[in-house]
Amino acid sequence: MRSELKGRDLLSLRDLSRQEIELIFEATTELKTLAKMGHFPKLLDGKTLAMVFQKTSTRTRVSFEVAMAHLGGHALFLSANDLQLRIGETILDTARVLGRYVDGIMARVFAHQDVVDLAEGSRAPVINGLSDFTHPCQGLTDFYTILEHKGKLSGLTIAYVGDGNNVANSLIFGGTLLGLHVRLGTPSKYRPPDEVLKKASEFAAISGGSLEIFEDPRKAVQDADVVYTDTWVSMGQEKEKEERLKVFKPYQLSTDLLKHAKKDAIVMHCLPAHRGLEITDEVMDGPQSVIFDQAENRLHVQKAILALLL
Ligand code: CP
Ligand code: NVA
Repeated sequence: MRSELKGRDLLSLRDLSRQEIELIFEATTELKTLAKMGHFPKLLDGKTLAMVFQKTSTRTRVSFEVAMAHLGGHALFLSANDLQLRIGETILDTARVLGRYVDGIMARVFAHQDVVDLAEGSRAPVINGLSDFTHPCQGLTDFYTILEHKGKLSGLTIAYVGDGNNVANSLIFGGTLLGLHVRLGTPSKYRPPDEVLKKASEFAAISGGSLEIFEDPRKAVQDADVVYTDTWVSMGQEKEKEERLKVFKPYQLSTDLLKHAKKDAIVMHCLPAHRGLEITDEVMDGPQSVIFDQAENRLHVQKAILALLL
């Protein structure tokens, strides 16, 4: 697909414009519609994507691999443990080499700086498949899913309850770029970093969206169109598990909490979910949940991203 995104990296939604996000959504609709009719245009014939994983994954790994297969390309799964990274080869050198073999690199890392270094070293575009700072492919999928279910984005209120983590950061960047009112219900110690809040207020001033942070999850959820949560213990935070489970308990997305949202509010979770912790079975499997549509859309949105960038 020809586009101004060709050759660009996708490290964070803060690097995209509203028009570029809309372009990705248009391509997603086209590819999803074709796929539902059994058509898989071979837009990446002969192209290869390296997928570097420092952390475990179900959705990101499988959806990217299937996306490349649908588009006629090839995906290589590379566990960081099996690469020479393990014996100390630098990220930058790894990127310089991979970038000469493949047409794109998707990486899931701990430190965000690692995807920045990959992008610096690689000739081929780099896609962030989750870092400790942000999860842009998830964020794009989330807004695409909201658009499908609500028919619009601008002016909607999305409430995120729980940890101010990588997924929250993507929702904040994307939401304020796209003109949504983003509300966070999170304990003060777990708010997103100031750099995220500052960027969000710049985006909101242009888009007409907003960002508000509440300590009380009920206030965050009040009259929201979308209610979103994620794990209280992200990958790499296992040592803090005990404290986190205590602090976040009042932020559980339960039927009681959901009652404060609009009657037709949709419920979202990036998955994997910890049922009985951040979300109850009743809400996760209830009529307002679009969680598995959201998971499916990772495939369609990432096909668009790959077709536009590679
Ligand atoms: N949501 C998400 O990125 O899932 P995985 O960790 O399974 O890739
Ligand atoms: N916040 C979670 C998201 C997993 C997809 C984590 O980083 O582990």
